[in-house]
Amino acid sequence: MLKLMISGITGRMGQLVAELAESDVGVTVIGGTSQHGVLGHLARDGQVIKINTEPEKLVPKSDVIIDFSAPSALERLLNIAVKYQKPLVTGTTGFADLSMLKKASKSIPVFYSANFSLGIHLINKLIPIIIKTMPIEEYDVELVETHHRGKKDAPSGTALTIGQNVAKALGKQLKDVLRNPYGSKKTGEIGISSIRGGNVFGEHELTLMGQEETLAVKHTVMDRKIFARTAVKAAKWLAQQPPGLYGMNDVF
Ligand SMILES: NC(=O)c1ccc[n+]([C@@H]2O[C@H](COP(=O)([O-])OP(=O)(O)OC[C@H]3O[C@@H](n4cnc5c(N)ncnc54)[C@H](OP(=O)(O)O)[C@@H]3O)[C@@H](O)[C@H]2O)c1
Repeated sequence: MLKLMISGITGRMGQLVAELAESDVGVTVIGGTSQHGVLGHLARDGQVIKINTEPEKLVPKSDVIIDFSAPSALERLLNIAVKYQKPLVTGTTGFADLSMLKKASKSIPVFYSANFSLGIHLINKLIPIIIKTMPIEEYDVELVETHHRGKKDAPSGTALTIGQNVAKALGKQLKDVLRNPYGSKKTGEIGISSIRGGNVFGEHELTLMGQEETLAVKHTVMDRKIFARTAVKAAKWLAQQPPGLYGMNDVF
């Protein structure tokens, strides 16, 4: 039985990961952490899982960690995971670059994706084909993402990843071709717009706008379980891997 620790267990994502992991016969949730750490969590066997503020009390007892928390919590957790040599799956977004994940992955297996849904994974795979097929200099590329009012980062990690993949397919870096949201659009720029409100789980729409046609690829999340289910699958896979930085392409 794989012993799972969940970082951010009281959050929107953490609660779902706990629910799905507890219904998996091969996994047992040994506990979780949150910022405030007061609540108990009722597990499959009727036991109360303690919620802690100190990852170091739980990490040594686990086989694998799933994290959906915040960048500062992730940074601390990575150091503890390295200390106890525990594999770590993270979906946390909003940090500047992958350097802390790359550093940790030299000694432990780390799985990261800004979006655990299979639909977004497919869009990322399609981007090089779209960019190669369309005469891209004739089209304006725009990306719009919409999320619930509680989301802490903007643009979303997913929008940045899609934008980076479009830029990469064009042989550029996103920072060099990102459209200034308050200025006019220049040829070759990629625009990213964020909308925040209500309870939208996550929408991303990539549009190529030409003079004679428009191509739009849209993804809508209807249930956050899509993220949590993939995270549990990734944790089961990651527990068997050697140190390294892994992502959706390695598993799906
Ligand atoms: N990769 C994906 O597919 C995907 C999908 C959805 C969300 N996300 C990302 O996952 C993260 C969590 O999202 P969410 O919607 O579940 O957020 P949330 O509902 O705000 O939950 C955040 C969780 O992290 C804990 N936390 C926050 N700051 C902390 C700190 N400094 N130290 C320790 N624990 C801390 C919170 O504890 P308290 O409850 O005590 O504050 C809570 O348990 C975000 O970065 C979000 O963008 C990724």
